[in-house]
Amino acid sequence: MEYNEILVTLANELRPARFRHCRDVSQTAVRLAERWDADIEKARIAGILHDCARNLKGEELLKTARHYGMIPSGLELLQPALIHAPLGAIIAERRFGISDPQILQAIRRHTTGAARMTLLDKIIYLSDCIEPGRNFSGVRKIRDLAVENLDAAVLLAYEHSILFVVANGGLLHPNTVEGRNSLLMELKASRNGK
Ligand SMILES: [Fe+2]
Ligand SMILES: [Fe+2]
Repeated sequence: MEYNEILVTLANELRPARFRHCRDVSQTAVRLAERWDADIEKARIAGILHDCARNLKGEELLKTARHYGMIPSGLELLQPALIHAPLGAIIAERRFGISDPQILQAIRRHTTGAARMTLLDKIIYLSDCIEPGRNFSGVRKIRDLAVENLDAAVLLAYEHSILFVVANGGLLHPNTVEGRNSLLMELKASRNGK
C-alpha cells in the first residue's frame, strides 16, 4: 500500500488519539530522516505503521498474534503490550503489503530498541518518543539532542524508558538493556577517539 492509502485505512481503524500519534510519529520521522540523511519514504511508512497493532488488547491481541503465526515469548506474555511491535511488523507485511526488511525491522524494534540499531531503527524509536504530543519531563532535552547528536538522543531515550519501566514496577526487556549498553560503549569509544 502507498502512504495515503495506509493513512486512510488507519484513520478508519485506530482511535483518533492513536491515529494522530501515528501521523505525528511519521512526520517527526520524516524530519529526522531529512536531518540525518536517511531514506525519507521508508521513515514516512515505518512511522505511520509503527503502531498498526496497538489497538489490539487482551485476548484479541493474542488471538491475532496466533493467527499470524507469531509465538509470543514468556516476557511478552507477561507484558502483552510488548507484542504490538513484532506483531505490527507482521501486519505491516501481510496486510499492508510492506516488503522492505528495513521498514519491518524498524517497526519490530520501536518499543524495546535493540543492540546495533540501524539509522532507520533509531529514527523510528526516537520519533515515537519525541513526537509533538509527548510531554513527559525531559522530552525537550531528547528533542533538542535528536537534531544535534542522534546517538546521544537515542541513549537518553533508552535511559528515560528504563527509568519509566522501573518506576512503574515493570519488567525490563533485555533488548532495551543491550541497546543502551551497546550504544553507551560506542559513544564512549568514539569520545576516546577510537
Ligand atoms: Fe508502539
Ligand atoms: Fe507509538
